[in-house]
Amino acid sequence: MNGDVQTKKPRLTPHNPVTVVLGTQWGDEGKGKIVDMLASDVDICCRCQGGNNAGHTVVVDGKSYAFHLLPSGIVNEKCVAVIGNGVVVHIQDLFDEIQRNEDKGLKNWQNRLIISDRAHIVFDVHQTVDGLQESGRGKNLIGTTKKGIGPAYSSKATRNGLRMGDLIGNFDVFTEKFEKLIDYYRMHHPDLKIDVPAQLAKYKELREKVRPFVKDTIPFLARAIKEGKNVLIEGAQSNILDIDFGLYPYVTSSNCSIGGVCTGLGIPPHVIGDVFGVVKAYLTRVGSGGFPTELHCELGESLRNQGHEYGVTTGRPRRVGWLDMVMLRYSQMINGFTEIAITKLDILDTFKEVKIGIAYELDGKKNYDSFPAIDEDLKRVKVDYLTLPGWQTDTSSARKFSDLPTNAQQYVYKIQELIGVKVRWIGVGQARESIIEVC
Ligand code: GTP
Repeated sequence: MNGDVQTKKPRLTPHNPVTVVLGTQWGDEGKGKIVDMLASDVDICCRCQGGNNAGHTVVVDGKSYAFHLLPSGIVNEKCVAVIGNGVVVHIQDLFDEIQRNEDKGLKNWQNRLIISDRAHIVFDVHQTVDGLQESGRGKNLIGTTKKGIGPAYSSKATRNGLRMGDLIGNFDVFTEKFEKLIDYYRMHHPDLKIDVPAQLAKYKELREKVRPFVKDTIPFLARAIKEGKNVLIEGAQSNILDIDFGLYPYVTSSNCSIGGVCTGLGIPPHVIGDVFGVVKAYLTRVGSGGFPTELHCELGESLRNQGHEYGVTTGRPRRVGWLDMVMLRYSQMINGFTEIAITKLDILDTFKEVKIGIAYELDGKKNYDSFPAIDEDLKRVKVDYLTLPGWQTDTSSARKFSDLPTNAQQYVYKIQELIGVKVRWIGVGQARESIIEVC
C-alpha cells in the first residue's frame, strides 16, 4: 500500500470477466457503494441469491434509487441486469420495485432485464407462512424480513416449489402444481386463509407481464463471458448469514458466500476473477445470537449513532461492536477474497482508541481462525483484543491514502496484515466520491 493514485472509475482486470462483490460480516457493510462504483464500468450485472430481503440505496445524479431484488447496476443504461436461478422472486414486489425506481428516473429497463426461467417464485402464501413461523419462534426470533424468502427456499428444497418457467408454461400444469403447494401448506397450517382462485387469476395476469423477461440465462451468460463482456455479481447479505457458513440458525436461506455465485447463475468457477470482500470498519448485527466483540456501553451507543446503525425498515437499533478478525479470517478462507474494501472508516473518527478482536478463547483454548459453528459456543468465547490509538480527525474529505491521519493508516495496515489480503478501497462517507482507492 504505497501508492496514492486514485481513479474515479476503477478498471476491472481484463482477463477476469466475472467480478464478485460479497459481504464478509453480518451484512449492511456498504456493499451498495462498492457495487455502484464498479457497475458504471460493466456490461452485465447479476444477482445470484436471496430475494427482496436485501437492498441498498444508490444515489446517481442526485436521485436516490432503492434496490431490493433488481441488480443495482441497472441504473447504468448500458448494463443488462440478470436475476439468476438462485434468486427467489416475488413477482408483484419486483414490479413494484421497478415502478418506484422508474418514478425516480430509471429508464429503458425493459430491454435490459433478464430473469432466469429456473428462478423460484415467492408466492403470497410464502410471505404469510414466513410471518407465522417467525411469530411461533417466541424469544428466539431469527429476525426474518417476512418477505417469504425462507419458505420459498424451503419449497425449492422440498421440491414442491414453482419456477418462472412453470408460470410462463402451460397454465393448467401451473395451476395443478400451485394447488398442490397450497394443500401442503394447509396441511401444516390448517387456519391458513388463502383464496386460491383469486391467486390464480392474479398469476394469470402477472405471467403475461413477466413473460418478456424470462429466459434461459445460462447460455446468455456463457456467450457474454466468451465474448469477454464484463460481468459484475452483486452479493446480497453476507458470509456470516450464509446458510452453510453462517451462525445457523441465525442465517438467511441461501448461500451468500462465493459458492452461491456458481450455483445461483450456472457459471463455472474458472471465469471468476476478482472477488472483492466488503468489510465494515467495525461490526454490526441485527437479531439475536452471539456477538463476541459487542459493545454495550456508552461507546456502543456512540458508535451506533455515528454510524446510523438502525434498521432501514424496522428502525430497530443494530447491535454494534469492534472488528472481529476471527470472523474475517474465516470469511477469507471460504471466499478467497482477492482484495477488500473497508467501508465506514469515517465512523471511527472520534474514537480515542480502536480495538480489533484478534483471537477467541474457548474452554481454555485459543484460536485465530475457527469461527464456532454453534451459537452457544460463540456466546461463551472470550476475545483477545489489539488496541490501537484512534485518529480523532475528520477523514470524510480524504481522497488519497496519504490524506488519512497516520493512526487511521495504521488501522488499515493492521486489518490488511491480519486478514492477509490487500485493501483496495476505503470508504470515508456516504457519497459516491467518498472513497479512497489504494493502488
Ligand atoms: P445489505 O445488502 O442489506 O447487507 O446492505 P449493504 O451492504 O448493501 O449496505 P448498504 O450499501 O445499504 O450501506 C449501508 C449504509 O452505509 C448506507 O446508508 C450507505 O450509504 C452507508 N455507507 C456505505 N459506505 C459508507 C462509508 O464509507 N461511510 C459512511 N459514513 N457511510 C457509508
